Amino acid sequence: MRKLKVLDLFAGGGGFSTGFLQAKNRNIQFDIHRALEIDDSACDTLRNHIGSDKVIQGDITDEAIKSEVIRTCKNVDVIIGGPPCQTFSLAGPARSGTKEMREKLKDDPRNTLYKHFFELVKIVRPSYVVFENVEGMLSKKVDGYNQLNKNQTQVIELICDELESIGYTTRIEESITDRFQVLNAADFAVPQYRKRIIIIANRFGMDNPKIIGAGTLNNVRDAISSLPVRLPKISTAKLENLKNIEVISRNYKMCLKVFVENIGDLAFKYPKEKDVLNTLHSSLKEEYERIKDRKTYKIHNLKKFLDYYNDLVKKLEINQIGNPSIVKSHQSREHNFRDIIIFILTKEGSNSARFMNPLSEDYNDFLDELYPYAKNKHKDTYVKHSWSRPSNTILAHMEKDGLKFIHPDQPRTFTPYEAQLLQSFPKDYIFCGGRNAQYRQIGNAVPPILGKAIAEGIFKLEVEKSQTKNLLKTNCVS
Ligand SMILES: C[S@@+](CC[C@H](N)C(=O)[O-])C[C@H]1O[C@@H](n2cnc3c(N)ncnc32)[C@H](O)[C@@H]1O
Repeated sequence: MRKLKVLDLFAGGGGFSTGFLQAKNRNIQFDIHRALEIDDSACDTLRNHIGSDKVIQGDITDEAIKSEVIRTCKNVDVIIGGPPCQTFSLAGPARSGTKEMREKLKDDPRNTLYKHFFELVKIVRPSYVVFENVEGMLSKKVDGYNQLNKNQTQVIELICDELESIGYTTRIEESITDRFQVLNAADFAVPQYRKRIIIIANRFGMDNPKIIGAGTLNNVRDAISSLPVRLPKISTAKLENLKNIEVISRNYKMCLKVFVENIGDLAFKYPKEKDVLNTLHSSLKEEYERIKDRKTYKIHNLKKFLDYYNDLVKKLEINQIGNPSIVKSHQSREHNFRDIIIFILTKEGSNSARFMNPLSEDYNDFLDELYPYAKNKHKDTYVKHSWSRPSNTILAHMEKDGLKFIHPDQPRTFTPYEAQLLQSFPKDYIFCGGRNAQYRQIGNAVPPILGKAIAEGIFKLEVEKSQTKNLLKTNCVS
């Protein structure tokens, strides 16, 4: 078996590398020769998966680090990588931040990190290059590049020009003009809508392959429905100061009922955990019956009820169910009771923009009143996923933006392990670091299944190259 050596730059937690390692061909496979990454937790993850000796931890702009890459990667066949995308991203502060934040991002040194990627390509001169980035990069333009043409030029076109100028072909088969491709992970059976741009380049003047999806659509159900139930801890500190708690207080009995019934529904939906969920449900129901008609001290009663719920969930060890290797990363974050009620009452596959729109069939006047954020700014804060569709794009800052990733029927947001499966990482892949670090590595990654399809495109090029070489040999001999 011939091995093509890969250098993964900006390797993160290893999504792209994992895809390359999964790619199959009868005669060739990929070997991750080196992976360069700056982040501590991501490097620990990489060390676990590809081996410590293959990870170069450091800053790509640092000359000593660059020298180490050049010294150790002279013979690599492929360079892959996706420089950080903060300023190009369609999500996060680049789009939704304040004007001040957006101005600051303009001067962010991460804007020019891709130049270091190409500097290394120029020196190492691998046979193939794969550059990956977020779709938002398409809108990134620069002035004054072309003196004749006063219009701005797309950065992505400049990158293709740069590759061409150092001897690489970026042209794509069956097209005269296309040099980059926009791929949606969902078209490759990843259970997630995630658009990424890629440039494939080779040093042999060949047309690069079009990367085409498998044609099967996987959804959230395919990815996460068999996981054990997780129930969040509900915060009770300063409950009286929670925004719009008075709306809950006015609807005290209904909110408690909705919450208790939801646990009963879960016992039905998750037969493997039926017994433990039924035990929880009957204890909560009993308590509900005892306190539901109290007219005074409602917040005080609610707090005691939630403390009781938190204790029961802990005592019954509901959140410890399942394979020990996934228990650590399959844990819900804590939520407040207002959000829990919003999670439960939002219809599966719907969101706050719809439940606040009187013209929508998902309109809910109670939720409209309970919504705690400025309605004139963001209406799409809460998004409850549907079982039957791929998920929305998994983000790197999901710990903060979790409300956009509400589970289809459990009252909580996606756990890191669910995000990992929605990104098509293998079930036994382990991410190092705390919750934030895990979400960041997962949300930043190229979904391995998409990476694998791209890697198989490189196989095609390699086969074509060998065939052309053989043909030339035969012609010379004859
Ligand atoms: C978009 S992520 C790459 C994800 C990766 N391709 C994957 O599939 O998992 C970009 C990575 O670049 C790393 N990074 C940022 N600045 C860097 C620098 N100056 N030198 C090296 N790595 C850097 C970040 O820590 C982040 O993990």
